[in-house]
Amino acid sequence: MARPDNLLAEWLAAQIREDGPMTVADFMSAALTAPQGGYYMTGDPFGAAGDFITAPEISQIFGELIGLWCAQCWQAMGSPKAINLVELGPGRGTLMSDALRAAAVLPAFRGAIRVHLVEASPSLKEKQRDVLHNVDVTWHQDLTSLPEEAMIVIANEFFDALPVRQFERTLRAWHERLVTLSPLSTKNAPAFAFTTGAASKEAVAMIPQTLRDTPVGTLVEISPAVTQVAGNLAHRLSRYGGAAVIIDYGRAQHQAGWSLQALRSHERHEPLIAPGEADLTAHVDFAAISKASKEAGARVWGPVTQAAFLNAIGLRERADSLCAQGTPAQARDIENGVQRLIESTQMGDLFKVLAIGHADLPTPAGLPISSADRGGRAS
Ligand SMILES: C[S@@+](CC[C@H](N)C(=O)[O-])C[C@H]1O[C@@H](n2cnc3c(N)ncnc32)[C@H](O)[C@@H]1O
Repeated sequence: MARPDNLLAEWLAAQIREDGPMTVADFMSAALTAPQGGYYMTGDPFGAAGDFITAPEISQIFGELIGLWCAQCWQAMGSPKAINLVELGPGRGTLMSDALRAAAVLPAFRGAIRVHLVEASPSLKEKQRDVLHNVDVTWHQDLTSLPEEAMIVIANEFFDALPVRQFERTLRAWHERLVTLSPLSTKNAPAFAFTTGAASKEAVAMIPQTLRDTPVGTLVEISPAVTQVAGNLAHRLSRYGGAAVIIDYGRAQHQAGWSLQALRSHERHEPLIAPGEADLTAHVDFAAISKASKEAGARVWGPVTQAAFLNAIGLRERADSLCAQGTPAQARDIENGVQRLIESTQMGDLFKVLAIGHADLPTPAGLPISSADRGGRAS
């Protein structure tokens, strides 16, 4: 049940009463980023006391290695005098802070960096301002105001927060799943339920070929927002130069199945029950990011698992060096963090890493050589 003072639930209920059922994507978008009551718009959901924990909050090594990855990209770009370092959805600013500390090992790189953060949440922006108090930062509400220049982009657990639409196959057609008011809903206590919309011609065009001929009852999630952001990034990188590293949990190939989930206090939660009070995410379709990026003219490397990526870019070496400098208790904490990042039962396999970049860039660190490098452009 939503809290009695959940104004977002009241607003969503009013929208449905006025316009009829809404798409899952519209519900998810409002639940996460509506100015009045969106999940990310107030407070700090991270850490043991919050709803979830992310890799940079688990171990400083994560952000440090990403910082060194960016330094290698910068060198591969010819070590330009100025480079925009962009992070999408920077959370508390921890990753950027750790990355900049690591970047300082290459003073020319650190000196070249212009930091840009793309962040929708006013409260997290304030947190980032505190954590990065000694850094000159430009904030952006979305990608559209980023400079039309070369950039290196980091996106950790950003794409999973972008809204998904859901489609369900019936005997004769694909139908969009929608959100409506539940029969239990009252004016003072709105409650929501899924419903099935009319047959959707649009769905057929959106659903990947490999999933179109699937059994009755199959559910497919599509994120136009993911495709749009990936296409925008890829267009910029292929035009002005640079690369992006995208880390998130999700699927290497298009897959059918329900992945929309809500998390509150580290526990699964029913996704429609209390909009704005729990984090809502969906597994990222890396094949969709890859396709949109290639169509926009960028080269794509990966995805590989987070474990493979971090091991290839020096996780063990950095952990050993930190453990050697710390107390036994600190060494145990460092080792626990490392295991959480790479264990297959934890984040190691579920999380994937994909890089996209300008066609002239060599393969970035930790990623496999792309099919374009093996001969012939990837299609
Ligand atoms: C799960 S957190 C990831 C935080 C951080 N990258 C980390 O690894 O700790 C998602 C971040 O993306 C931001 N965000 C979510 N949706 C957004 C949107 N549509 N536009 C801009 N930022 C968004 C959130 O406010 C938050 O900073």
